[in-house]
Amino acid sequence: MSPARYLTGITTTGTPHLGNYVGAIRPSVQASRRPGTENFYFLADYHALIKCDEPERIQRSTMEIAACWLAAGLDPDQVFFYRQSDIPEVTELTWMLTCVTGKGILNRAHAYKAQVDRNTAASVDVDTDVTAGLFMYPVLMAADILLYKAHKIPVGRDQIQHIEMARDMAQSFNHLYGEHLVLPEAAIDESVATLPGLDGRKMSKSYDNTIALFGAREQVKKQIFSIVTDSRAPGEPKDVEGSSLFQIYQAFASEEETAGLRRAYAEGIAWGDAKQLLFERIDREIGPMRERYQHLVAHPSELEDILQAGAAKARGRATPLMAELRHAVGLRNLGAQAGAAKKAKAKTAGPSFKQYREADGRFYFKLVDAQGRVLLQSKGFASPKEAGECVARLKATPESLDAGQFESLDGAGMAEVQAALRELTATGN
Ligand code: TRP
Repeated sequence: MSPARYLTGITTTGTPHLGNYVGAIRPSVQASRRPGTENFYFLADYHALIKCDEPERIQRSTMEIAACWLAAGLDPDQVFFYRQSDIPEVTELTWMLTCVTGKGILNRAHAYKAQVDRNTAASVDVDTDVTAGLFMYPVLMAADILLYKAHKIPVGRDQIQHIEMARDMAQSFNHLYGEHLVLPEAAIDESVATLPGLDGRKMSKSYDNTIALFGAREQVKKQIFSIVTDSRAPGEPKDVEGSSLFQIYQAFASEEETAGLRRAYAEGIAWGDAKQLLFERIDREIGPMRERYQHLVAHPSELEDILQAGAAKARGRATPLMAELRHAVGLRNLGAQAGAAKKAKAKTAGPSFKQYREADGRFYFKLVDAQGRVLLQSKGFASPKEAGECVARLKATPESLDAGQFESLDGAGMAEVQAALRELTATGN
């Protein structure tokens, strides 16, 4: 059975902080080691161009983010780790999807709509500060996903709409050109922690309350010592409830260590001592990674080599799929046209079975007529073999058709389905 494919895009703006590490990088690196899965991680630098027009920042951020993920333990030999802009197929697929996507769908995308709403509220032209890039953001993102036939996309809630749009685009494409694309699904991990920042609000660049992930040790220490606490003196018992210091500690510590700090709070540990404990605990995990990070940032050509190898590996998947899609939509070698056209015609002149796999990991088939109308839709099978056996049974004995096991679609009745099956058998297809 083919492995489930997970895909994660990382926007290359800014420098990762401890909140990104706990909320995204660390869980992703752990997830990348799951057996029976394939994992794709890429630096979404085309997406970064939508928000940022400073070349130096794009370059710097791409480098820092790549170095962070590698330093945090992502193994480029075990996963697909690449830079989006190294894969020309992604822009090519973006265009194909653009042509099967209704403009009305994109009008509803959150990021675009938010800007339109801001403009309306400010009584300026609705298109102010809206580039076509912002408008097309969901299509580029769909291409990222569909290019690798990814099944599961781990994202935050704000991205669910984008995944649904990618699904719709895949469906439209498949409807027009046959089953080429896999329909992806969002995977939301509810258990992932959000880290509080220095001031107790969620750690975020926009609140300027972050702790650097791979800042110099002294800088990290200074930031940790600036975490806001209450004014209780040493010896006074302290509350773990609502203490960001405690919550950050918990995100790094084992259960026993956390219980230890809870006791220390009750016994009145001085805030300075608690901060020192937190600093040491974080440094124990991050310290060894920091060395690798600093090495990579000091040797960007090593990073570049890793990304180039990743791009070659990713294109091993992207290039054949694009060749298939180019053919499907009719962007074809003219020299090969005559014979192929004849063959294709002969093949689609009657009804046919189409087998495919859905994002739920199960195997399906449907019977379509020459015009592509769905006559019969199967339920999901655990393996392609079972689906194939069911198809073979239907072909061999059309009269054995049990309508109750299927959904008849587009109004096709039993008789029509059986007639199509007999036609298939007669033509030997
Ligand atoms: N839009 C995503 C974000 O802002 C980044 C991204 C780009 C992405 N392409 C993707 C995420 C494809 C998942 C899959 O976080």
